[in-house]
Amino acid sequence: MKTPAIILAAAGILAAGAYLSYSASAQMAASQGATFNAANETSIPEGFREWVFIGAPLTPNGLNGGAAGFPEFHHVYIEPGAYAEFKKTGVFPEGTTIVKELVLLHEGQHEDGSRDEPSGRGFFADSFAGIDMMVKDTKRFADTNGWGFFNFGHHAPPYADKAAAAPNESCAFCHTANATHDMVFTKFYPILGRK
Ligand code: HEC
Repeated sequence: MKTPAIILAAAGILAAGAYLSYSASAQMAASQGATFNAANETSIPEGFREWVFIGAPLTPNGLNGGAAGFPEFHHVYIEPGAYAEFKKTGVFPEGTTIVKELVLLHEGQHEDGSRDEPSGRGFFADSFAGIDMMVKDTKRFADTNGWGFFNFGHHAPPYADKAAAAPNESCAFCHTANATHDMVFTKFYPILGRK
């Protein structure tokens, strides 16, 4: 029996659609966070500001004696493939990359650094001022509880081209002691759905 051309054409379109969605998901699974050179250094992943934005903790200078340790908004992004995996399993997969960009506030009008805007008195982001990053790699960073911590400078862009992992006493110790889920302060990111 001869298959009508219209059915063949429809089958072709379905197959092409299936292939396209397959390659889109294959691409997503392969989507990458940080990569390392032979000296174990890494760079800020390109396009991280288009990743999943998970939250913005705020430590204003005005509430921290004029000089917060991490001034002031912390814009936190996670690589989308790792986000999808975490939402499914509750586990940050190997390679999970989380970038925290520091953002300074518009100049304050009150002693606490807040100002008045049409929406109310508060704190309002103004300019980029630094990048910290953490990458889960339980073999490479076994000494710092399975995550590498990187500081690309706490200043306005341009940021450092590359960074080596910071020693335990600069970063990891505090996450080890205080973070709420596998070195990450998940309790500050309601989008992750866990405390
Ligand atoms: C004294 C404690 C402390 C130290 C030291 C510290 N952090 Fe954190 N870090 C925090 C806290 C608390 C948060 C979440 C709340 C916030 O951002 O204010 C955080 C958040 C982060 C995040 C976002 C993901 C998360 O876990 O919430 C990254 C990335 C990060 N820190 C990297 C670094 C890097 C890199 C260093 C070293 C240069 C560092 N941290 C040093 C306490 C610390």
